[in-house]
Amino acid sequence: MLYSEKVMDHFEHPRNVGEIENADGVGQVGNPKCGDIMKMYLKIDDGVITDVKFKTFGCGSAIATSSMATELIMGKRVEEALQLTNAAVAEALDGLPGYKMHCSVLAEEAIKAALADYYQRQGLPVPEACKLPCEDEHGHGSCCCG
Ligand code: FES
Repeated sequence: MLYSEKVMDHFEHPRNVGEIENADGVGQVGNPKCGDIMKMYLKIDDGVITDVKFKTFGCGSAIATSSMATELIMGKRVEEALQLTNAAVAEALDGLPGYKMHCSVLAEEAIKAALADYYQRQGLPVPEACKLPCEDEHGHGSCCCG
């Protein structure tokens, strides 16, 4: 089978879909090659992620990886959430086909963008780990993945 059972489960029953009113950090990223967009909302209390929601206008792999990513960072400290990589999200889903790995980058980058927004709102310096790979070229909220 092309997709693992976990990918299919998170695609068919995505967790934590929606928006958070009065979120403490919001990030939106897009993949200019396929046009898919992901928006991530974080509620953060005392440095701990207490709620996370996402909305994705994207493919099944983007939906499944965002869903898994929200589960992986829920309850984590912001410093831990910053360490989450797209490879770790894909691994937690028992893998993705190689040509769909770029879809998992959206989830990682949406979390980083939301955390960058959180740090900015707090008046804190944005950690290097929040910075998106193509931030210099396109500004925050875009990426060249894919
Ligand atoms: Fe665009 Fe999957 S094809 S994120």
